[in-house]
Amino acid sequence: MIESNIKKVLVSEEEIQKRVKELGKIITKDFKETKGLIVVGLLRGSILFMADLMREIKLPLKIDFMTVSSYGNQFETTREVKILKDLDENVMGKDILIVEDIIDSGLTLSKIMEILKNRNPNSIKLCTLLNKSARREVNIKADYIGFDIPDEFVLGYGLDYLQEYRNLPYVGVMKEDVNE
Ligand code: PRP
Ligand code: MN
Ligand code: MG
Repeated sequence: MIESNIKKVLVSEEEIQKRVKELGKIITKDFKETKGLIVVGLLRGSILFMADLMREIKLPLKIDFMTVSSYGNQFETTREVKILKDLDENVMGKDILIVEDIIDSGLTLSKIMEILKNRNPNSIKLCTLLNKSARREVNIKADYIGFDIPDEFVLGYGLDYLQEYRNLPYVGVMKEDVNE
């Protein structure tokens, strides 16, 4: 059973669903005047949050996805973020809402913001379910944050450990002995 590797539940399914509804309401209000909203999910971690959040945004919108390379186990100096799958939509003049599962160092998001800004959208906003500010290396601030979390190894609700655990409906903390 996969749950035997979980030390504790950090954010429960109920807490997530409640917060997703709140964020959806706020985003719906903020984007009321939009002339074209594109919600961009970053694969693969964002898919559960994206699927739940988009149902709570009560506005016409398009969705699109982007995959960037994971720099996971490399040394800091060699880390770079490359586009593996680009957007299909033209975002020029559109309002972009980027949806992420977690902001950690901020390197993934800062690179993506830079790429998307160069395509001249009307606006770019960022929504993350989890914000781990203790690990930030670049100045990235989300416009919408689900939960601020401590510096622990989290998984579930889209977040993986070796590509597994993404299907858990809650965010949990992994047992240390599994992690090494
Ligand atoms: C994870 C997570 C974020 C990113 C955050 O993705 O989903 O996208 O890392 O880290 P950062 O702020 O330090 O850049 P990962 O690269 O593991 O790919 P995944 O979404 O497919 O799990
Ligand atoms: Mn990711
Ligand atoms: Mg990952």
